[in-house]
Amino acid sequence: MSTALAQRAAHLVSQVSPDTPADAVLRREVGANRELESHEKRALTGAVFAYYRWLRWLDDSRALPQRVLAALDLQKRFDADPASIKAEALVARALPDWALAAIDFPSPEARLACLRQLQRPPTLWIRPQREFAASVIRALRHATPADLSHSSFDIRHSSFAAPTAARYTGPVDLFKTEEFKKGLFEIQDLASQLVGHSCAPLPTETWWDACCGEGGKTLHLSDLMNNKGLIWASDRHTGRLATLRKRAARAHAFNLRQVTWNGGPFLPTKTKFDGVLVDAPCSGLGTWQRNPHARWTTTETDVRELAALQLQLLENTHKALKPGGRLVFAVCTIARAETTDIVRAFSAAHPELEPLPLGGFPLNAGLPTGTFLWPHELDANGMFLAAWRRK
Ligand SMILES: C[S@@+](CC[C@H](N)C(=O)[O-])C[C@H]1O[C@@H](n2cnc3c(N)ncnc32)[C@H](O)[C@@H]1O
Repeated sequence: MSTALAQRAAHLVSQVSPDTPADAVLRREVGANRELESHEKRALTGAVFAYYRWLRWLDDSRALPQRVLAALDLQKRFDADPASIKAEALVARALPDWALAAIDFPSPEARLACLRQLQRPPTLWIRPQREFAASVIRALRHATPADLSHSSFDIRHSSFAAPTAARYTGPVDLFKTEEFKKGLFEIQDLASQLVGHSCAPLPTETWWDACCGEGGKTLHLSDLMNNKGLIWASDRHTGRLATLRKRAARAHAFNLRQVTWNGGPFLPTKTKFDGVLVDAPCSGLGTWQRNPHARWTTTETDVRELAALQLQLLENTHKALKPGGRLVFAVCTIARAETTDIVRAFSAAHPELEPLPLGGFPLNAGLPTGTFLWPHELDANGMFLAAWRRK
């Protein structure tokens, strides 16, 4: 890392504010400087995010560029030998104290493994369309199919298709590849891809992706349904739906209908669904490896308020299920209040919905439904999934 790059990264860090988080500053910088090579973008992003990953190790009295350099040294040392950073230091400094207390880790070993994972630069995952998976992986080079056989998420033996997820380690800007422009793959985290698989939608079914955002999971559901059946995709942000429209056109996904919905009791349609996916707004604790700045801006109040919104979304969406229909709840957080507490409260209020195991996924939350996707198990975002079926 040159001093010039450290200075540039420090300049970006100085622009970060409560209204403009680090990822927004980086997007703006990269968008405004089209001449930046992809390795320069990666170096800049890596430096800014290393700064936030190692923030509590840095000496405030030093100038910002020096702190960025110190963070990069720590990152290099840790990447070469994770044990070089003491376990006690990780527990004390990697996350804010409230966040550590908000997560029920299965064991002290799992807690350490998870914290170590959060200190690594994240893996870039792609999701090729199923029909083109082999050719996309061949064409991109530096793409290797996910191997889940070492983890408890060996879904190859489950009732639905194996994931086509692949990790990408090459130098190329994937957005500029022909394969991306033709819609043959999406950039999508492995844990997010497992959400689509856990829904296991059939081509004959009708689904509602109630919080579709820009459609990462909608497009996956569409692919899993062989572009057949029908998916209603709703979000409160019309801008996100507009992006989904463009992405759907690129991916040749035609079995979609987009509609604005604000999450309230007035549903966007009278249709009854075989499946409803609530990929709910959440605190995003599970994405703190990819976006370490959020560790220092997210609050306990956010967690509490978002948990209330998640319950409200489940309360409103389950009414749209057919008898036998499945409700899948997903969040990219691992905080107790937004995961196991939600399952307990919602299950208790709805005896007419039976908790449903998710095909091929272990029930690891100590409840009749509930699966944590831990970052250290998958080398991906942390997520939580649960599902119910209308009796
Ligand atoms: C986790 S994101 C969805 C990500 C998306 N499913 C994907 O895979 O790309 C949650 C989404 O919920 C939407 N949202 C937030 N509050 C909502 C509400 N009250 N009603 C409906 N959607 C809401 C947000 O706009 C956001 O797009």
